[in-house]
Amino acid sequence: MKRFISLSLCFLFVCSFALADAYVPSPDLKTILARLEPHLVLVNKDHKLPDNWLDLITLVPTTNSLGEEFLVEENTFKHFEALREELLTEGIQIEIDSAYRSLEEQQEIWDEWSADPELGPEYCEKYLARVGYSEHHTGLAIDIFIIKPDGTEERDNEEMIADRETFAKIHAKLAAHGFILRFPEGKEDITGYAYEPWHFRYVGEEVAIYIYEHNITFEEFCATFT
Ligand code: DAL
Ligand code: ZN
Repeated sequence: MKRFISLSLCFLFVCSFALADAYVPSPDLKTILARLEPHLVLVNKDHKLPDNWLDLITLVPTTNSLGEEFLVEENTFKHFEALREELLTEGIQIEIDSAYRSLEEQQEIWDEWSADPELGPEYCEKYLARVGYSEHHTGLAIDIFIIKPDGTEERDNEEMIADRETFAKIHAKLAAHGFILRFPEGKEDITGYAYEPWHFRYVGEEVAIYIYEHNITFEEFCATFT
C-alpha cells in the first residue's frame, strides 16, 4: 500500500510537470484578445501596441493620387477604398495623408514636431501619440486630406478643422464602411487627444455603427464590451 501511495504521488508529480510544460501562458492578455479580433485592438495613451502585432495582420501597399506611398492593413484598405469611391460620387475627394507608421517613423515625427517652434511638445501631447502608443502602428488608422474641386489641397490641420461642412458629410459616411472618427470633438478628456476630423479608425461595420449611434468613443466601447 505504502509503495502504491508513493508511486501515485510520483505519478502526480510527473504529471504536474508535464502539464506545466504544455501550458504556455501568454505574457500579454491584450495580445490574445487582439489575435481574436485584431481590428478591435485598443491603442491609446494607456494601452501600448501589443507585442508581435505585425504577425497578426497583413499590410498592403498603396499610393494616393499624388503618388505618395503608404502601407495599410488589408481590410482597412478595402473599406477605405469603398468609402473614398462613395464620397467621390458626391464630389468629395479624400486622399490618404498617413496610414501605417513604424515605431521609427513615429519617433521621427515626434522629434520633428517637438523641435518645431510653431508646434513644440505641448502640441505633440494634444495631436501626436508617443512611440508605441499610436493607432498608426496598427495599420488600422488612416489620416486623410482633401483635394478640393479646384484641384487645391486642404491638408493643413487648422483648415480641415474649420471645414465643418465637408467633414460633416464625410463623417456621416464612416460607420457604414466600418470606420469611426477616433478623436471626436468634446471627448478630448476620454480619448486623450484634441479633435482630429481627419483620423479614421477601422473597427468593422457592426462596432462602428454601434459607436456612431451611441455617440461614444472607442474607449467607452471597450470599457463596456472587452
Ligand atoms: N495623431 C494620433 C493621436 C497619433 O499620432 O496616433
Ligand atoms: Zn492619425
